[in-house]
Amino acid sequence: MRTAAERRELLKAVYEEARGCMRCPLHQTRTTVVFGAGNADAELMFVGEAPGANEDRIGLPFVGQAGKLLDKLLAEIELDRKDVWICNLLKCRPPQNRDPHPNEIEACQDYLHRQLELIEPTVICTLGNFSTKLLRADTTGISRLHGREEVRIIGPRAVRLYPLYHPAAALYTPSMLEALRADFHRIPELLALGPPEQPHPFEPVPEVEDLTEAEIAAQDSELEPAAQLGLF
Ligand code: URA
Repeated sequence: MRTAAERRELLKAVYEEARGCMRCPLHQTRTTVVFGAGNADAELMFVGEAPGANEDRIGLPFVGQAGKLLDKLLAEIELDRKDVWICNLLKCRPPQNRDPHPNEIEACQDYLHRQLELIEPTVICTLGNFSTKLLRADTTGISRLHGREEVRIIGPRAVRLYPLYHPAAALYTPSMLEALRADFHRIPELLALGPPEQPHPFEPVPEVEDLTEAEIAAQDSELEPAAQLGLF
């Protein structure tokens, strides 16, 4: 188990790498890499879509109107930014705030996965369609999934994944804002459940010498004929 200080140092190293990233064409148009911000030891993580104009200028996630709404909703559940980690699926702004392109998501997802592995959150709130689809590895949209928590294996760990409407969408649609607020108010309940049961660690196959002759014979008979010949 890493200490908070260790997580911070390791995250800084990933940030140093991301800062000079040229893995996709967005590096040509960005002003700043918006890596993420908050508590490296957080139990709760939010994953948005991509930086907008304000974030690109300042270098921090969710600093515009959508960010103000996020702050307000956090305050309603008695949390603030220093309690959580906030980041985006894409670390660089797409021009004119267009949707992320598949090649950009592909190029950038490694940074998100490394953040997840280092922070080890219990609950991940995906904000909107793009991060929900990526982390669920499925095309089901946010309007069907919002507010439905599920245990998902992401990388080596099980997490409580909790899709939410994107605050930017909720800003302009009162019914969405109402749903976002109701879903948000259930976050403390999910956090109180603690981490989900983790997948069983890899169990090593016994060395051949440890097996009895009967066990070796039983294993051999389970092999496909081609494998018995050593053809894989
Ligand atoms: N929208 C996002 O998805 N992320 C931000 O950082 C700001 C707006």
